[in-house]
Amino acid sequence: MTSFEDAVAAIERAGSFPDLLCGGLAGVEPGHAYKMLVKIVHPDVAPAGRRASATQAAAKLSALWAGARSLTTKRATYRLGSLVASGDLADLTALDDELLLKLPRQPADNDLMRAEVSALTTLERDGDPRHRAYAPRLVESFTHEDAAGARRTAVVLTRQSGFVPLTGLAHRLDPRDVAWMWRRLLTGLGWAHRAGIVHGAILPEHVLIHPEEHGVVLVDWCYSVPVGGTVPAIVARHRAAYPPEILARRPATAATDIHLATGLMLQLVADPPAALRRFAAGCRFASPRQRPQDAWSLLAEFDELLHDLYGPRRFRPFALPAR
Ligand SMILES: Nc1ncnc2c1ncn2[C@@H]1O[C@H](COP(=O)(O)OP(=O)(O)O)[C@@H](O)[C@H]1O
Ligand SMILES: [Mg+2]
Repeated sequence: MTSFEDAVAAIERAGSFPDLLCGGLAGVEPGHAYKMLVKIVHPDVAPAGRRASATQAAAKLSALWAGARSLTTKRATYRLGSLVASGDLADLTALDDELLLKLPRQPADNDLMRAEVSALTTLERDGDPRHRAYAPRLVESFTHEDAAGARRTAVVLTRQSGFVPLTGLAHRLDPRDVAWMWRRLLTGLGWAHRAGIVHGAILPEHVLIHPEEHGVVLVDWCYSVPVGGTVPAIVARHRAAYPPEILARRPATAATDIHLATGLMLQLVADPPAALRRFAAGCRFASPRQRPQDAWSLLAEFDELLHDLYGPRRFRPFALPAR
C-alpha cells in the first residue's frame, strides 16, 4: 500500500496514468489502482495541514484516469471502452459507441495490419458503393508507440453491432438457413473481387452474420492480397480449410475465396442434400482453374440449385441455435 505522501508525490510527477503503475502499484490492474489511489489521496482523510495538496492530487488523478480511458490521434479523441475480442494477432477494443480499435499484440504483425488498411482503402475507392456494407469501414490508421518504444500499426474500424461470427455452428443449420448466408457471402466476395481484392481467410470467425436481418459482413482483411498476389500467412489452426494454392504460396484469385467460402458454408449444414454436396465439390477442386472463377456467376448457378431443391425463394426467419 502506498502512503499519502508517496501517492501525492507520484501523482504530481506523473505525465500519464500508466506512470503511476510502478513501485507499490506495479502490476496492479489499472481500474483497481485508480480506486486505491482515490481513497489514499481523498481530501477527507488527508493528514492535518495537507488537505489542499490532497485536493490538488485528487483532481489530477481523475484527469489522468480520464486520459487513460481516451485515445487521441491526429484525427480525433475517442472514448476507450472495453475489450471486445482478441483475434489471432490483434486485440479489439470498443471506441466511442460504434467503432473499434484494432491493435496488434506484436509489432511483427504490422505488415498484416497494413494489408488490412490497403484492402479496406481499395474497397472504399474501387468497390461498388451499393455493396459497401459487406466490409467494415476504415476510419483511420496510425502508428501507436507504447512506453517501451514498440511501434504498432493500429486501425479504427466501424463496429458491426448486432452481428456475430459463424463460429461454433458447424453441422448445426438447416440448408435453407445457410442459403441466405451463402448467397450473401458470394455477393460480398464478387464485390471484393471486382475491386481487385482476394480476402484470403474466409473462416468462421471472419464471416459475421446478423441473424434477424440476414446480414453478412466480412472482417479481418489482414490476409488479403490484390488478385494474383500470394497470401502472406495462414491462420494455423484452420490449415485443413485452405486451398492448395495458399499453402503452396501460389497466386490467389477469386477461385481461392470461392474454395474457402464453399468449405465454410457446406460445413454449417447439418445434413446437406446430395445436389448441394455436388455443387460444393465443384467449387473445391484442388486445381484453382477447375473451379468457378466468378462469385457472381456462381451465385446465379446457386440460385438455380436452390430453386430446384426448394422452389421459389422466400424469406425464412432465422434464429441462432442455442450455443
Ligand atoms: N468490424 C467489426 N465489428 C464487429 N466485430 C468485429 C469486427 N472486426 C472484427 N470483429 C470481431 O473480432 C474478432 C477478431 O477480429 P479479427 O479482425 O479477426 O482480428 P485478428 O486479425 O487479430 O484475427 C473477429 O473474429 C470478430 O468476431
Ligand atoms: Mg482474425
